[in-house]
Amino acid sequence: MNARLEPLFTAKARGHKLAVLTAYDYPTARLLDEAGVDALLVGDSLGMVVLGYPDTTLVTMDDMIHHTRAVARGTQRAPIIADLPIHSYGTPEQALANARRLMEAGADAVKLEGGVSHAAQIAAITGSGIPLVAHIGMLPQSVREEGGYKIKGKTPEAAQQLLDDARAVEAAGALAVVMELVKPEAARAISAALRIPTIGIGSGPDCDGQVLVIHDLAGLFPWFTPKFAKPLAAAGVAIREAAAAFVERVHSGQD
Ligand code: KIV
Repeated sequence: MNARLEPLFTAKARGHKLAVLTAYDYPTARLLDEAGVDALLVGDSLGMVVLGYPDTTLVTMDDMIHHTRAVARGTQRAPIIADLPIHSYGTPEQALANARRLMEAGADAVKLEGGVSHAAQIAAITGSGIPLVAHIGMLPQSVREEGGYKIKGKTPEAAQQLLDDARAVEAAGALAVVMELVKPEAARAISAALRIPTIGIGSGPDCDGQVLVIHDLAGLFPWFTPKFAKPLAAAGVAIREAAAAFVERVHSGQD
């Protein structure tokens, strides 16, 4: 087994809550690795926060490989999870081929969006020995069909569907499952029902870990911050102020 992933496999039994952040480039990966994150996610959220797209639906395999390589160069310790982007895992064969490409780029595990609907793709990947993190609840790659980022699991039926999804990905061999925008009560019940850790985002405090987009945590994308993100820095403001001070220094002839 990949030794970097070992802490993820044992975390739930140890009662250790997983702290996961996204990274898309060398310096960020290196900083977050040094800070002690439990895992780095090369998320397809890079479509928005790095590439300036409106959502994740334009991100390609080439984008993910490019950024996974950069993150791998900056990481010594933390396991790297890389997202399979939209249209890269339509069939089990395609899912496996593209998972292999992300692993060759330096990922320790891959992630894809879907529950019961994607159990065959997950089983194909995990069956070949590639570790996989699943992603259920709000699925950003489906945002256009869904008409927005909506909370999941609001009714008993919807909560049951999420539990079915969670059980399906666990049975298919996922090592963990991201739950995005899931009603906290449903997220708590799913976390209690699974052996594998749940990693929540906007799903309340009772998941087995939390994941955030680094730009949301560090205030690096000041034009939009999701309600649940609670930034702990204002890096965007600091960069803008440093740039303005530099402009002033040059324009005034000090440099
Ligand atoms: O792409 C991403 O960053 C993600 C997180 C929001 C979980 O999938």
